[in-house]
Amino acid sequence: MNIRLKSLLPDLFTSAGKRLVRHRFVLASSVIACLTLDLAYGGRGIGAAIAVAFIMAAALLVPGRTAEKPREERRDGATRIETLLATDLAEAVQDPLFVSNASGDIVYANEAASVAFGTVAPGMPLQLKFRAPEMHDFIARVMEGGAGPFGIDYVERVPLERAYRVSATRIGDGSGLFVLLFRDQSEARRIDRMRADFIANASHELRTPLASIAGFIETLRGPARDDPKAREAFLQIMQDQTSRMARLIDDLLSLSRLEVKPYGKPSERVDLRMVVGGVRDALAARAKDSGVEIELDMPPEPLEVLGHRDELFQVFENLLENACKYGSSGGRVVASARKAADGSERIVTIRDFGPGIPEEHIPRLTERFYRVEIGAGRPQKGTGLGLAIVKHILTRHDARLSIRSKMGEGSSFTVHFPAPD
Ligand SMILES: Nc1ncnc2c1ncn2[C@@H]1O[C@H](COP(=O)(O)OP(=O)(O)O)[C@@H](O)[C@H]1O
Ligand SMILES: [Mg+2]
Repeated sequence: MNIRLKSLLPDLFTSAGKRLVRHRFVLASSVIACLTLDLAYGGRGIGAAIAVAFIMAAALLVPGRTAEKPREERRDGATRIETLLATDLAEAVQDPLFVSNASGDIVYANEAASVAFGTVAPGMPLQLKFRAPEMHDFIARVMEGGAGPFGIDYVERVPLERAYRVSATRIGDGSGLFVLLFRDQSEARRIDRMRADFIANASHELRTPLASIAGFIETLRGPARDDPKAREAFLQIMQDQTSRMARLIDDLLSLSRLEVKPYGKPSERVDLRMVVGGVRDALAARAKDSGVEIELDMPPEPLEVLGHRDELFQVFENLLENACKYGSSGGRVVASARKAADGSERIVTIRDFGPGIPEEHIPRLTERFYRVEIGAGRPQKGTGLGLAIVKHILTRHDARLSIRSKMGEGSSFTVHFPAPD
């Protein structure tokens, strides 16, 4: 308590002092008025006492919020923006920006403009810099004046194709200058195109089994109405097609769930031996049906990474399922895990001894809907989304996938995780 009071006292005195100085003129006139009144009414000291009371009250009363200070700050801010140069503002804009005079000559280009379009000699006509006919028309329209706003989509093809939204605005009143701002739309366009492709692919994948089911329903109602053997065969195909559609929808939902999930660095310590072992148990029945034996080659001690257990389960489920599905002719699949020799990585390899994957397909396997069709005899067994999901999850784990394959000898899919610390 003592200490607090001690540290408070000097503060109290300095702030009282400051208040007295700030209000010195008001105080002085009040004191003079009191003393004059005192003298006028016989000098009984009452006026002097009131004056002293005034001074003490002014020093000690807790100040209210004065409007003075914010006003000072506002004035400062306004002064700062008034003295700011137009070129300072133009440089602060991260998109390419040109300022041109009334005859269409460039009088200023910011740094972003030089990076995107090369250095511009001052005085160069805009129409010489941008020779595309649509830009010529646009610049002419802007120079003619009239009511804005002016905007145009413009594609720069060299050295890289980039799509811009260009807008032009007059500066100030009667300055004759106008500003041309280029907003890069390339990334947004690429995402739009990807989304459209994705929807087209997903619809196509769903329509194929649907069309097949619709065809069989028609046949069952018509020509195969009284053929119990054909009916049984067709119903089986229809059932396969519906499960294919269900798988596709499950995979699509999985992907979209991953995409909307906020990115958080995985923090759980997960023992890879447990995850891979768990997947092996979950797939045991299916592996047996395909005539495949899954062998584990794991270290005796825990092999930990930082991860989301369920997501990692999904990764190895996809990889082991693929190995059993596409490599079943090899009869066995080996899942092995180890530390890298220099300790920097934790490595899991899923190896099969099946037909292998032609080299040219390997870089594209993780694309959505990508499947390798080898010969007409190989039926479509999957959705083509499995490895896309694997890649997505691994990226979230700072991990990577490497694929090796030799025709006739089999394939190996290897996941490299960073060490946990
Ligand atoms: N172990 C493997 N051996 C041979 N081909 C494989 C193997 N793993 C994947 N593939 C090929 O890669 C394609 C993409 O796999 P994936 O993305 O998991 O989709 P899906 O299994 O749903 O078809 C598969 O269609 C298959 O052609
Ligand atoms: Mg798969």
